[in-house]
Amino acid sequence: MNVFFLGGGNMAAAIAHGLVRQGGYRVHIANRGAEKRERLAKELGVAVSEALPELSENDVLVLAVKPQDMEAACRNVKTGGALVLSVAAGLSIDTLSRYLGGTRRIVRTMPNLPGQIGLGITGMYAAGETGEADKQTADTIMRAVGQTVWLNDEAQMHAVTGISGSGSGYVFYLLDALQQAALAQGFDAEQARSLTLATFKGAVMLAEQSGAPFADLQQSVMSKGGTTVEALEVFRQCAVAESIGQGVAACVARSQDISAQFEAV
Ligand SMILES: NC(=O)c1ccc[n+]([C@@H]2O[C@H](COP(=O)([O-])OP(=O)(O)OC[C@H]3O[C@@H](n4cnc5c(N)ncnc54)[C@H](OP(=O)(O)O)[C@@H]3O)[C@@H](O)[C@H]2O)c1
Repeated sequence: MNVFFLGGGNMAAAIAHGLVRQGGYRVHIANRGAEKRERLAKELGVAVSEALPELSENDVLVLAVKPQDMEAACRNVKTGGALVLSVAAGLSIDTLSRYLGGTRRIVRTMPNLPGQIGLGITGMYAAGETGEADKQTADTIMRAVGQTVWLNDEAQMHAVTGISGSGSGYVFYLLDALQQAALAQGFDAEQARSLTLATFKGAVMLAEQSGAPFADLQQSVMSKGGTTVEALEVFRQCAVAESIGQGVAACVARSQDISAQFEAV
C-alpha cells in the first residue's frame, strides 16, 4: 500500500517510522523544506518530494501539516479519491473536505507525543459514510504508533485532545513537580530524576498489570497513621484532583475555540 504524507514534521516522522518498522508500506513524504526532506530520506529510507504527486483511490494520504497551514497546503493536492487521514488538531471533516475539493473519504485522528516511541494512543473518528475497510486501514496505520480508540461523535475529538492529546504535557508537569520536591529534599539532579522516573514508570506498569481501579491502588498505599496518607491529605486540601479536572476543561474549551475559527468562513 502507498502511504503519502503531506508535511514531514514530528508527527509524520513518528507515523512513517512506525510504518517502515512494520514493513509492507511504500511511504512517500512531501515536505516544504529541503532540510527535513533530506533527513527523512536518509534516516527512514522513504521517498520524498516538495509537493505530492497525483494520487489514486488505492492510496492513503496522511495530512500532517499544522492546522493553520492546512488550507494552503491542500490547495494543489489531487487526492484522486484516495483515503485521507488527518492528524491535525481542530480541523473537522467538513473543513478538511472543503479544503480538499469535496472528498468525504476522510478519517480524523488525534495522536499524542509518545507515538514517537510507539507508545501513543490515538482518538479516531470517521464520518458515517466511511466504509469498514477504510476504517480498518486507518486503524492499522495509526496502530504503528500505539493504541487506537474509536469515537462515535466527532465532538469527542476535543475531549480526546484534553485527555490524551495534551495529556503528555500534564504528565511532564507532574514529573517536574516530583523532581523539584526530590531536589528540595537534598537529592542531586541525577538521583532526583531517577527516583521520579522510576516511581511514575513503576506505578503505571503496576496499575496496568493489576487491572485494579486506580482509587483502590491508592487506598492500598494509604495505611492509617502512615506516611503516604499525610501527603495525599495535603493534595486533597489543595484540591489537586479538581485542578486537574479544571485544566482538562480549559484545554477542551481551547480546542473548541480553535476549531470554531477554522469553521468560520
Ligand atoms: N506533535 C504532536 O504531538 C501532535 C499531536 C497530535 C496532533 N498533532 C498534529 O500533527 C500535525 C503536525 O504537527 P507536527 O508537530 O508534526 O508539526 P511540525 O513538526 O511543524 O510539522 C509540520 C510540517 O509540515 C510542513 N509543511 C507546512 N506546509 C507545507 C506544505 N504546504 N507542503 C508540504 N509540507 C508543508 C512543514 O515543513 P517545513 O518545516 O520544512 O517548512 C513541517 O515539516 C498538526 O496538525 C498537529 O495538530 C501533533
